[in-house]
Amino acid sequence: MKDFPYKHGGNIYLHAKKNNIPISNIIDSSASIVPFNPPKFLIKALYAEIKAGYYKYYPDKSFNNLREIIGEFHNVHPDWILPGNGASELITWVGLEASKIGKNCLPIPSFIDYERSLNCWKAEYIFSELPKEWPESNPQEFPINKQSDVIWITNPHNPTGQLWSRKSLENVLNKYKLVICDEAFLSITPDGENESLIPLIGAYDNLIVIRSMTKLFSIPGIRLGYLVSSSKKLESIIKNRDPWPLNCFAIKAGKTLLNNKRNYDNWINKIHNWIQTEKTWFSNKLSKNSELRVHFSSTNFFLIESQKSFLPNINYLASKGILIRECASFRSLNENWARISIQTHQKNRKIANEIQNSFLN
Ligand SMILES: Cc1ncc(COP(=O)(O)O)c(C=O)c1O
Repeated sequence: MKDFPYKHGGNIYLHAKKNNIPISNIIDSSASIVPFNPPKFLIKALYAEIKAGYYKYYPDKSFNNLREIIGEFHNVHPDWILPGNGASELITWVGLEASKIGKNCLPIPSFIDYERSLNCWKAEYIFSELPKEWPESNPQEFPINKQSDVIWITNPHNPTGQLWSRKSLENVLNKYKLVICDEAFLSITPDGENESLIPLIGAYDNLIVIRSMTKLFSIPGIRLGYLVSSSKKLESIIKNRDPWPLNCFAIKAGKTLLNNKRNYDNWINKIHNWIQTEKTWFSNKLSKNSELRVHFSSTNFFLIESQKSFLPNINYLASKGILIRECASFRSLNENWARISIQTHQKNRKIANEIQNSFLN
């Protein structure tokens, strides 16, 4: 049986199959997801959902209750919210809207799904390369100023981890017919929310913000994200997409995770503390290796750059059950680069030690 083609991190099933090991034996540092179990209150709510048997009915097509909760959470009108089957599904539909407007600009290196979506709708697009050197500070000024109708921004940027300032993005909003800002990692990023464009939604109808619940709550298997926009384009997306893109468990998860501020804040504090502590430890540890450069990041992943191809090191790590993200598949990066996502301290220690060993092999 053939595996489907992919260009993302997190290929744990393939690795487990190839090596005949359970996925629980793998340290997956290639997908940037919180390494803790999801919050207990979420698991409890999902069990309750099974018990209540709502899966016997089609889910609410309008997501009314979920939209209300997300709207209240962000202090925006529920009509400006559109939940989706992960940010990825929403990226697909936003691409269709973007394709109708004109030329799209994609900063590179970037998350591969924007290109997938634009190809899907045969959209016109160009690339604009981000500088390979960036300041070691947060937030930074968004550096791209290319002529186009639509621009796709990731804040913080994947794979570089740069956090763009809201102020610099406001300038972008005044230049483009449509600005798509993917904030998949923003809530996970310490002080990230200060740079969110969601508070500007009411003032700019050329803005679409994309959010993902995947990373922060460690629920990639649930598939849950949402759009925030005051643009009429949401109506067009609703008309085109399939009628029940979210199942009842994803809807329940969204409602549970965002309707209790105290639970949310407790979780966020735990995650931000973990990132601050482990990012500093991890990058200091790896920086001691003179063959590696560790690039500054605002969030739970960072880029490393080797003086020569890092692929042999990546293969060595894989043989030890550690997956990190190769970067040759990112436009404008090459085999010398790799992206690492932060894990729990014990695992970070193991990854750092094995990276050291990988140079001895
Ligand atoms: C920048 C970015 N946006 C969106 C996604 C997709 O998120 P979701 O799991 O919600 O589809 C990813 C996944 O890696 C990502 O890196």
